[in-house]
Amino acid sequence: MISFLIELQSISKRFGGTRALDGVSFGIERGAIHAVMGENGAGKSTLMRILSGVLTMDEGRMVIDGVEKCFQTPLDAQREGISTVYQEPYLVPYMSVAENVFLGHEKVKRFGFVDFDSLHSKTKEILSALSLDISPTEVLVNLSPAEVQLVQIARAIAFSTNILLLDEPTASLTDHETTILFEHLKKLNTGGLTIIYVSHRLKEIFELCHTVTVLRDGRHVATKKVSETSEDELIGLMVGRELHKAEHAVLARRESGVRLEVQGLRVQNAPVPVKNVSFIVHEGEIVAFAGLVGSGRSEVAKALFGLRSIDAGEIVFNGSPIEVKTPADAIARGIAFVPEDRKEEGLIATQSVRQNISLTGLSRISRFGFVKGSAEEKLATKSTDQLAIKTASIDAGVSTLSGGNQQKVVLAKWLWLQPSFLILDEPTRGIDVGAKAEIHRLIVNLAASGVSILLISSELPEVLELAHRIYVMKDGEIVGEFTRENASQEAIMKLAAIGN
Ligand SMILES: Nc1ncnc2c1ncn2[C@@H]1O[C@H](COP(=O)(O)OP(=O)(O)OP(=O)(O)O)[C@@H](O)[C@H]1O
Ligand SMILES: [Mg+2]
Repeated sequence: MISFLIELQSISKRFGGTRALDGVSFGIERGAIHAVMGENGAGKSTLMRILSGVLTMDEGRMVIDGVEKCFQTPLDAQREGISTVYQEPYLVPYMSVAENVFLGHEKVKRFGFVDFDSLHSKTKEILSALSLDISPTEVLVNLSPAEVQLVQIARAIAFSTNILLLDEPTASLTDHETTILFEHLKKLNTGGLTIIYVSHRLKEIFELCHTVTVLRDGRHVATKKVSETSEDELIGLMVGRELHKAEHAVLARRESGVRLEVQGLRVQNAPVPVKNVSFIVHEGEIVAFAGLVGSGRSEVAKALFGLRSIDAGEIVFNGSPIEVKTPADAIARGIAFVPEDRKEEGLIATQSVRQNISLTGLSRISRFGFVKGSAEEKLATKSTDQLAIKTASIDAGVSTLSGGNQQKVVLAKWLWLQPSFLILDEPTRGIDVGAKAEIHRLIVNLAASGVSILLISSELPEVLELAHRIYVMKDGEIVGEFTRENASQEAIMKLAAIGN
């Protein structure tokens, strides 16, 4: 007899016309690390939100430790020792790290007042358990997405006593940070903690998890022992069809002119200052920037897009020196930027899918100052088809989309502008295997049609698969360059970590 710690029985949840979960039943063994997989929009996060009391189910039963439960609030779940790392951080940007760690939990009090000294020392303990060197008093807005993610994880781990839910916790982490996290999770698991782990990364499932459940279109497809399945089988179960391994080996680049040349770029006023960075991108070339989180890759991108004030250096675009002071300057020249943090920089949460897609180029679809509804509609429909964005309709609020589908909306809104220089910062983070292959194909095709691409990615296999050339950054500087032919994962990693 297997003893299930959690039994889910016929759980259903609808949002308007969308069946996010449709009669889902499976069990999670006590002491397991149980993975939940599925394509973007399959219902994974919805299930996590029900387990953590953020959402209530429409139908079904949830039995924990033999007792039926129905959480009405996150606090109900917390009282059962359930702690959650959400896909989209639920933290307060303008509060300190320490306040965020204790958010919603009993604060450390003395005589009825918050005792900040012990709040800070407790936070320090919690962070150091994950080898994090972040000050408890730092305000959250000053942290990188990866650091915010790590704070969220540290917080969840600190308060989980029975069950830990992790919804794509490694999306913004590097390999190194992921390794540290996994060591920690394995230790906690050995100590008796049951873990439910949502991820798109197959490698992680095989490295960390004991069992895996696959969801598709809100339904339960299978639950398997990880030792008795394979990557190919899981992909097949997720997409419900054979997925051929992307056959878009990057096209050899034809001899072409220089699109962008950057000389001695310096940006002082940035979270990671950029020092004396020089590089070239040709027409139709895919150039990748590799490096650790915090190496300055995104800062270079932001500078090129007019989001940072440039202190020194020259940018030559299509043969002439240009100045980019604002994003409008960049867009006017045909430079587009898909940022890594879709929440902060990519999407307007309160607007519809249609509005978010058309936002980047309102002037092109407007006449006499009014947005032409028909043009906007055509554009949004075409984009959602092209990128297979799963949404109830183009008028649905963009925040009702699953995480991966929101990411695709960010891509769509820049792609239709048909830029000649496209900067992509972690474009496939949180995107499922099928959609990822689609996006890779799209990138290769864009390059083949002459678009120059600057790709920032922490996933080295993605870099090696797509890039014609690779620059490695460390501490705000370029420390090395590889061609596609002489690059290897080891060589890049070594340079990124140690420099030269
Ligand atoms: N608040 C909401 N309002 C309307 N629809 C929603 C809402 N939340 C989720 N949905 C819809 O429910 C479905 C399942 O979404 P969910 O976020 O659970 O997917 P997911 O498996 O986590 O996907 P991803 O891998 O992209 O994170 C999607 O079609 C989504 O658009
Ligand atoms: Mg999700």
